[in-house]
Amino acid sequence: MPPYAPPSRHAIRLRINGTTCEMEVESWTTLLDLLRGPLDLTGTKKGCDHGQCGACTVLVDGVRVLSCLTLAVMTDGREVTTVEGLAQGDQLHPLQQAFIEHDAFQCGYCTPGQLCSAAGLANEGHAKTLDDVRELMSGNLCRCGGYVQIAQAVAQVVLGPGPHASEVAHEAWIAGTTVNAGKAKAKA
Ligand code: FES
Ligand code: FES
Repeated sequence: MPPYAPPSRHAIRLRINGTTCEMEVESWTTLLDLLRGPLDLTGTKKGCDHGQCGACTVLVDGVRVLSCLTLAVMTDGREVTTVEGLAQGDQLHPLQQAFIEHDAFQCGYCTPGQLCSAAGLANEGHAKTLDDVRELMSGNLCRCGGYVQIAQAVAQVVLGPGPHASEVAHEAWIAGTTVNAGKAKAKA
């Protein structure tokens, strides 16, 4: 019998939602398990745990990643943003506000991943049409089938108001009662 060797642990230092965290993790610990376990950031959801559903999406240095396929040691020195870090105090992130305006969730299980994925999509700057938004959000599954509203909500923020937005949201924008409308009118 080979002598027992304790599991290897690695010291990492990263920023999570603006807070610096230092800890030791096992080499096989995923970012998802680190977030939901020791850090108690349970907004990030575990769906398939195999990179298929997008429920675990978070941002690492502003880039959307699947935290179930990302080892915690890989985030040493990086900036991680979870759904808990999107809002600024009581001020919702524009995507969160748009999801409410478009009724873009039902059970809400996929919503944290959808929001982080949409934030990453906005950072990428590749979406020019509603179809682009649908395609670029296709890695995030919604078992409640809220795809129409989700795409509209994301498009409202990423593309701005327009025919891709739902009628209710578009009217709200015209009336100046949405986040984006407020910004647009402030600029005007
Ligand atoms: S839990 Fe990570 S992709 Fe499904
Ligand atoms: S709102 Fe239920 S899975 Fe998307």
